[in-house]
Amino acid sequence: DKPMEKERNRLFQINRESAYFFYRNLMNNTDARKYLYKRSISDTTINLFKLGFAPKSWDSLEKYLKSKGYKEYEIEKSGLIIKRKDKSGYYDEFRNRIIFPIYDRKNRIIGFGGRVIDDSQPKYLNSPDSLIFSKGHNLFAANLLEKKSHNERIVLVEGYMDVVSLFNKGIFYAVASLGTALTKDQGKLLSKLGDNIYICYDGDEAGLKAADRAIDILKQEDIKAEVIVLADGKDPDDYIKSYGKEKFESLFENALDYIEYKIFFYERKYNLNDTEEKIAFTRDVGKFLKDVKSPIELDAYMEKISQRTGILKEAIKKEIFGYNLNIENKSIVNNRYINKKYKNNKDN
Ligand code: UTP
Ligand code: MN
Ligand code: MN
Ligand code: MN
Ligand code: MN
Repeated sequence: DKPMEKERNRLFQINRESAYFFYRNLMNNTDARKYLYKRSISDTTINLFKLGFAPKSWDSLEKYLKSKGYKEYEIEKSGLIIKRKDKSGYYDEFRNRIIFPIYDRKNRIIGFGGRVIDDSQPKYLNSPDSLIFSKGHNLFAANLLEKKSHNERIVLVEGYMDVVSLFNKGIFYAVASLGTALTKDQGKLLSKLGDNIYICYDGDEAGLKAADRAIDILKQEDIKAEVIVLADGKDPDDYIKSYGKEKFESLFENALDYIEYKIFFYERKYNLNDTEEKIAFTRDVGKFLKDVKSPIELDAYMEKISQRTGILKEAIKKEIFGYNLNIENKSIVNNRYINKKYKNNKDN
């Protein structure tokens, strides 16, 4: 409806004006720019993302926006200023931080991320959800993809800096979720943006867990994705800075599909030389085979588990699908169903 639309437009304007304010501050602040240069981010990349800097001040943004005619109550709704506890006024949410404007696919600024330039906490702040910003429905940098749908390849990373750093090195197909676990809606957006989806989260325990959750979310939505695991706890930014673009792109060849990732993920928790643990591992990973519709894939996956454990494929199959089930037939039926579904999806 009309009044709502007006309010939303006003918030877009406030964000646009604020991004300009942050950008100009970055241009005028040597320390902030040095921070980005130290992280190898070029001026071209700064300009592409319209990165900015929020000065070390409690009210400089508020003052700036007021001078442009915006009212406190409007600015508050953007989350850029916050009401003081004693209600004696407001303070700027982002202070002394590098600013990452977040755009929707229509190139409107819907929110911001902000990173400290020292070791203080929290490392990142994000705009709160608002009338125009919903973290779970957007992906950072989706607006910068060459095509707004069906790029050949798309890589999902954890952080703002990962995306910026990948673009900086010529990887123009990276996006990030916005400081939360991947949502179904973000999954759907991913599948619209690209044909081959790769998850490349941080190689630390948190990243591996998040990737495991992400592939489950995507699986539930019938979205195919593969996982790239970075060694030594590195993140994509660390990796591309250490090894370069070519090596980063060669990682895609060895990306792990759903079951391969499950095997990798569970394998780390078990000692496969111990019989009991080997059995538990096989059962754990075996559970995920139930979702595999193609008989060929199923066979290949069982082969993998069998190779890892020495347990015969036939035994794995019986354990998972039961003794009397004719799984070849079941799989063919499922496979036809999937093909039909796939065709229907392609048509609309
Ligand atoms: P990371 O801790 O992996 O940070 O968080 P990073 O992206 O590698 O950042 P740098 O390299 O230290 O600058 C990944 C993402 O999680 C969210 C942010 O979106 C961040 O980019 N996050 C992280 C927060 O929202 N708040 C935090 O305090 C930390
Ligand atoms: Mn991380
Ligand atoms: Mn990082
Ligand atoms: Mn990281
Ligand atoms: Mn593969």
